[in-house]
Amino acid sequence: MSTNNHQPHSSVLINEAVQTLRDGGLVAFPTETVYGLGGDARNPEAIQKIFTAKGRPSNHPVIVHLAAPDKYDAPQVDWVPLLSPWVRDISEDALRLINAFWPGPLTLVFKKDKSVANEITGGQDTVAIRAPAHPVAQELLRKFKGGVVAPSANRFGKVSPTSAADVRHEFEGMLDLMILDGGDCEVGIESTIVDLSSGDRTILLRPGAITPSEIFSKTGVKVYQVGEEHKADEVLPRVSGSLKAHYAPTTPLRLYAPGRILDALSEFPDIKSRVAVAVWDSDSSLSEDGHPSVHFEEVTVPSDSSAFASRLYRSLRDLDQQGWDLILFPEPPSGEEWDGVRDRLQRACFGSGPSSISHSNS
Ligand code: TXA
Ligand code: MG
Repeated sequence: MSTNNHQPHSSVLINEAVQTLRDGGLVAFPTETVYGLGGDARNPEAIQKIFTAKGRPSNHPVIVHLAAPDKYDAPQVDWVPLLSPWVRDISEDALRLINAFWPGPLTLVFKKDKSVANEITGGQDTVAIRAPAHPVAQELLRKFKGGVVAPSANRFGKVSPTSAADVRHEFEGMLDLMILDGGDCEVGIESTIVDLSSGDRTILLRPGAITPSEIFSKTGVKVYQVGEEHKADEVLPRVSGSLKAHYAPTTPLRLYAPGRILDALSEFPDIKSRVAVAVWDSDSSLSEDGHPSVHFEEVTVPSDSSAFASRLYRSLRDLDQQGWDLILFPEPPSGEEWDGVRDRLQRACFGSGPSSISHSNS
């Protein structure tokens, strides 16, 4: 799952994390998408601590993480007993999606069981559930034997963490937090969210690594884009990732169309140097886009969508630390496999820059 050095998945540490959760404390843990900031989903005080630590408005719902059954890859796995304390109405389509993609980077929104706390759902009558695939997350959840709510382990509106060091940096000096180190996250952007709660149409709420066509080809379930029948605001009352500004670096970030770097720069007439430009690893060079008075520094980014997603937040965090005046990224190509990164990059652009606090995440 990871190529760099990290802690062994020591049972001692995981047991300590389980105890911390039972005591109402918070534990940051790796998932295959991004790191989560976890607390006991049946303990309202623990949930409150998460919102406080993140600085997240209390009406933004959080995802409940569950352990997959022990032998989830066997032909006959019964997910229903696992889900039934949390949700009602588990449809045939829901079971198809679960059997095809769990454990994995897919979050499903169901009608909630009445026992699910309002703190989790933001007062809505639905609840989002996911079974992460990362072995450390799996072991933690299996030993904890309960649901763990876990938003991404970043301050509200900031780039999601994809390494234990990112999490540490995010909460440094604010929170004495237990962090399980599972190396770098492989997927790199947050899970795909699909809403099954209407019982009618299955709707994509957040694009991610798992795309509607992959879902259709593996399950026959058609997932509709929000725009296909509603305006985003009607369907997504309180999805924080749906706010225009999210995942934002403090350095201004813009996208450029192929060969149009100077257009992107025209918004920043005073910038003479210190511009980091991400270029596709498949492209030769920037030379034809050159500008006499601006010094570009090239950073290559993968032209494969999964590899790009895997490193996107890492690159944004690293570039944000390097003191550039401006960061330019190439517009992702069209195509569904790019929807997840396009979504994150557009939000990151919108919220980026030193003034981001004023217009991000009201
Ligand atoms: O990959 C992920 O999903 C990561 C890892 C840690 O699992 N978690 C994550 O959590 O991205 P967070 O809180 O940063 O984003 C969860 C998203 C939010 O946009 C939230 O509004 C939405 O899920 N959500 C949660 N419950 C919902 C519900 N009942 N209905 C609609 N959206 C919901
Ligand atoms: Mg988040």
